[in-house]
Amino acid sequence: MKSLHQNFKNIEEEIIFLKKKRKAIILSHFYQDEDIQDIADFIGDSLDLSKKAQNTNADVIVFCGVRFMAEVAKILSPNKKVIIPDIRAGCSLEESCKVEDFKKFKFENPHHIVLSYINCSAEIKAESDIIVTSSNAAKIINSLPKDQKIIFAPDKHLGGYLNRITGRKMKLWNGTCIVHETFSERELVKKKVRLANSKIIAHPECPENILKHADFIGSTSALLKFISSDNSKQFIVATEPHIIHQMKKNEPSKEFIIAPGNDGDCSCSNCPYMELNTLEKLRNCLLNLSPEISINNELILKAKKPLNFMLKLS
Ligand code: 13P
Ligand code: SF4
Repeated sequence: MKSLHQNFKNIEEEIIFLKKKRKAIILSHFYQDEDIQDIADFIGDSLDLSKKAQNTNADVIVFCGVRFMAEVAKILSPNKKVIIPDIRAGCSLEESCKVEDFKKFKFENPHHIVLSYINCSAEIKAESDIIVTSSNAAKIINSLPKDQKIIFAPDKHLGGYLNRITGRKMKLWNGTCIVHETFSERELVKKKVRLANSKIIAHPECPENILKHADFIGSTSALLKFISSDNSKQFIVATEPHIIHQMKKNEPSKEFIIAPGNDGDCSCSNCPYMELNTLEKLRNCLLNLSPEISINNELILKAKKPLNFMLKLS
């Protein structure tokens, strides 16, 4: 590793120095560690992060999130250097959907439009007609003709939720988010009984048995908007718990409780992929300009089409 031979009070100061030197912008998802969220230039959900990556004039994009998010930044801004603190930061949804199996799924369902959740690899994006995120999926589906046949990958829980709210019968890929699957319905109901004045808010990646108890369902940024617009003082949060850091910052007088897992109050709903990124790795990637996201030009061109379509429609 290269050294700057410079004395810094702390690692945050070093990161800010390196960021200026590299003409970089630090983007962070709400599921990142608190110290990463606090040092980021911009923090958002998958859709807002994609838009920011497309519009920045920085030379380097440091993507503090998971790999598919950093890949989207590279696809939308191919001339920029995109780096990520830990290249191993994957996603269980992405892993569930391998391109050869997906091509077979498409072949078995001809005459279907291919809608893919942004939580998938660049190869799956290249095989898709439109990409959606949890912020714009319902709107995009509703804009398609009522009789249009659709296949949706890779999240079966999000797909099931979208089918219920749009009245469609999309064919679903059998993928899940390991984080949103950890919540226990039984423990959630027990908690709600004890905290009768609380509201349950949930991300649509949760299974139906959790979503049916929710007072509000939405993407990470929609959940953040809801806790500010709603009068309740107490919220049970069924999504990755690092988002609570922003909730507390935005609404310090309100209380946020992590939705419980099977053994009550466990921290089993932390995303193990997001957790791979740390402040030290963020510093190191700015210092070394590595690990870098690299995608071949042909794949960039193919994956860009359905992403641009999404950005146009949302
Ligand atoms: P959002 O688009 O709602 O931020 O979701 C991203 C994600 O990975 C949820 O698990
Ligand atoms: Fe993937 Fe789930 Fe982690 Fe989001 S929370 S990055 S969907 S594993």
